[in-house]
Amino acid sequence: MNQEKLAIDGGKPVRTKPLPLEFPGVHHMDAKEIQAAVRLLRARSPFRYYGIKLQKEVEKLEAEFARFLGVKHALAVASGTGALHAALSALGVGPGQEVIVPAYMWVSVVAAVVNHGAIPVLADIDDTFCLDPAQVEQRLTPKTTGIILVHMSGAPGNVAAIQKIARARKLWLLEDCAQCNAGSVAGRKVGSFGDMGVFSFQMNKNMTAGEGGCVVTNDFRLYRRAFACHDLGYARDENGRLIFTDPDLCLWGKGYRLDELRAAVLRVQLKKLPRIVGNMRRSKYRIRRDLEKFPRVQLRRILDPKGDTGCFLITTYPDADTAKLINTALRAEGIVTSPQGISNVVMTEWGLHLYYNNISLVKQGSVDGRGFPWNLAENAGLGGQYSKGTCPQADSLFARSILLPIPSCLTRRDEDDIIRAFEKVLRALLPQ
Ligand SMILES: Cc1ncc(COP(=O)(O)O)c(C=O)c1O
Repeated sequence: MNQEKLAIDGGKPVRTKPLPLEFPGVHHMDAKEIQAAVRLLRARSPFRYYGIKLQKEVEKLEAEFARFLGVKHALAVASGTGALHAALSALGVGPGQEVIVPAYMWVSVVAAVVNHGAIPVLADIDDTFCLDPAQVEQRLTPKTTGIILVHMSGAPGNVAAIQKIARARKLWLLEDCAQCNAGSVAGRKVGSFGDMGVFSFQMNKNMTAGEGGCVVTNDFRLYRRAFACHDLGYARDENGRLIFTDPDLCLWGKGYRLDELRAAVLRVQLKKLPRIVGNMRRSKYRIRRDLEKFPRVQLRRILDPKGDTGCFLITTYPDADTAKLINTALRAEGIVTSPQGISNVVMTEWGLHLYYNNISLVKQGSVDGRGFPWNLAENAGLGGQYSKGTCPQADSLFARSILLPIPSCLTRRDEDDIIRAFEKVLRALLPQ
């Protein structure tokens, strides 16, 4: 067969127009979000607990999001990082405890553990790109109190297996669903399996108001503790007044309240979320199905394709050099977004998602300059290694894999171009 000359060799690229930026929710923002924001501003009541003409947008968002996920309680907060902190406070995390975190995550996950004075323990990932249950088992010690399962890059991790481990050892399970909002396993939404779940509504996420987050749980006590900790450390009555009479709820606040304006926008985005995710999933699986004819390309193991939110396509190659070459060739074919988007990268370029890129973790940094929390007497002997090499399965997957964001507004033509570029590059560089 006549092979087309690759763009890296001076051939004509498949496309010259950049792909759309990856931010899923913002592509679907329209007059509805604008109306919601204007309505809220006209009411001049941007604070959740009281105002001139209180709209109760945050409260309504919480009720609607809880219903969407099938959980009893949702607490909207200012960010996903704030959600992690409020959840760990609710779970009573502190010095003398080890918390299992995956090798592939986001820096906020370890930051929340360390800020609580506890010690993160890395567990390796498997070909789901989420926690490997067997590796979690190996990292458990008598000091382990909980596991944070992060559903990474749009698709759920093996939550059933991790939940089984947590239950058997009486550990808490926190699901970080920041990158997998609306994801599900066997029809059940992520965030509803663990003792608690957290979400982010930052701009890269499936629904967004620029910033925002949520803590969810079926446990009323944990909800009330998270509620107090996200605010001033105390409960509030139905009029937003602080209550000081409950001894279980005299805690410390973190100041992560969500404002009414973003809640108003998020309520609109929530209605659009199934469509946003549906678009990405449809595009992704059209491309994935085509790639199935290339047996030397390993596709990320997806536990339940119907529950994949579709925002990223991960392909893995036999070795690091091949992955790099194919990525360079795909980019030359025009499979990139505008410069500000991180469109199509070898995963070693994926920044603070990789444990060994977290300098503060690797160097065991501290804000007090004296080694907190690693230097605490309760933490003596806890934890482990954090430098590259600690999680070899992750290291190998990162080096050999390419991550391609799937925008929520791809046209059929855009999808055709991505497929054509993969086919052209793979036929030339990875003979099957
Ligand atoms: C897995 C994960 N957890 C937590 C967060 C933190 O969310 P935020 O940026 O809203 O603080 C993010 C955001 O990028 C994330 O990807």
